[in-house]
Amino acid sequence: MNILITGGTGFIGRHLISDFLSRSSDISFTVLSRRKAPQVCRLFRNVPADKLKIINTAGELQGRTPDILIHLAGSPVFTMIPFFENTAELESSRAGYTAGLFRSLASAGMLPGTVIMAGSTGIYPPDEKPAPEESAAGNTFPARLAGSWENAATETLEELRNSGCISEIPRLITMRFSTVMGKDGGFLKPFIMTKRQPVIIPGNGNSMLSWISIPDTAEIAWNLIRKWPDFSGKINLAVPDPLSLNEICRDIADLNRAAFTAHLPEMPLKILKPQTAAFLLLSNTARPAALARLGYHFHYENFREFLKTVI
Ligand SMILES: NC(=O)c1ccc[n+]([C@@H]2O[C@H](COP(=O)([O-])OP(=O)(O)OC[C@H]3O[C@@H](n4cnc5c(N)ncnc54)[C@H](OP(=O)(O)O)[C@@H]3O)[C@@H](O)[C@H]2O)c1
Repeated sequence: MNILITGGTGFIGRHLISDFLSRSSDISFTVLSRRKAPQVCRLFRNVPADKLKIINTAGELQGRTPDILIHLAGSPVFTMIPFFENTAELESSRAGYTAGLFRSLASAGMLPGTVIMAGSTGIYPPDEKPAPEESAAGNTFPARLAGSWENAATETLEELRNSGCISEIPRLITMRFSTVMGKDGGFLKPFIMTKRQPVIIPGNGNSMLSWISIPDTAEIAWNLIRKWPDFSGKINLAVPDPLSLNEICRDIADLNRAAFTAHLPEMPLKILKPQTAAFLLLSNTARPAALARLGYHFHYENFREFLKTVI
């Protein structure tokens, strides 16, 4: 089975690739990346060459239709550089890139029958009560960003079907990621770069956050391919019980023996980086209703227990 993956060089993508390859010998990946091959190869030093091909454009697939597309690419939400907020790039690297990718694969007759893409639980209105998949979308910047990304996927597929470019809509799954926790990327990495690092909590820390471990993320993605072939639609990747930012940061500070903990005042962040503030200061919770229906058992539901495995 060949899997075409975008964003395979990122935090979640790297884990999916190494996890899937360790599970089955019949899997190979084609990584569609903006980076040059040597740079990507360095990230996958331990992967045999016949298991991983790197391409820079969909045209390089050379007529070989992948079995599955895993589409994770998107410009990072939290960056300090550029100092201004590059909202246009956040949008175009998601909605714009998705539409362009689907069109170019479909016009070459190489759009796979299964498409698994990244989404975000930021799509729900900020609420301490976790939202199941059928909840309506919110109106914050994270919600609009996630919503336009999902709409770009469904609308482009419908447009391609209506124009006769594809005969049927592929099985489309959106993994709505909550805060994905792992030591080498995402939320956690900046907090645990060094031992005793101070923990700086954005705002008062009372906002609620859903989270999921990277091993659960990889297992769920694997199950979507191998164990749950009939599932399609949106799926929240989140543990059942969210935590407050204070609770999460307290555990990090304790286990990493932080020199001190401090709060970053809300006002300067809201003035200087209003959209980033919406990601950092508003509650972002989701209920794993679809996972519960599928009978999924989490490896990690207790944040502190998971943290002990990475610190
Ligand atoms: N990590 C989380 O907690 C979390 C939560 C919710 C949603 N998500 C979403 O899930 C996806 C994967 O997350 P991640 O943490 O693995 O992200 P990541 O580490 O930032 O990796 C994203 C990848 O997207 C590609 N990319 C970056 N900027 C791009 C641009 N301007 N245009 C096109 N591609 C670009 C890059 O791949 P190349 O350089 O190889 O092209 C990069 O490796 C992202 O879309 C993210 O928004 C993540």
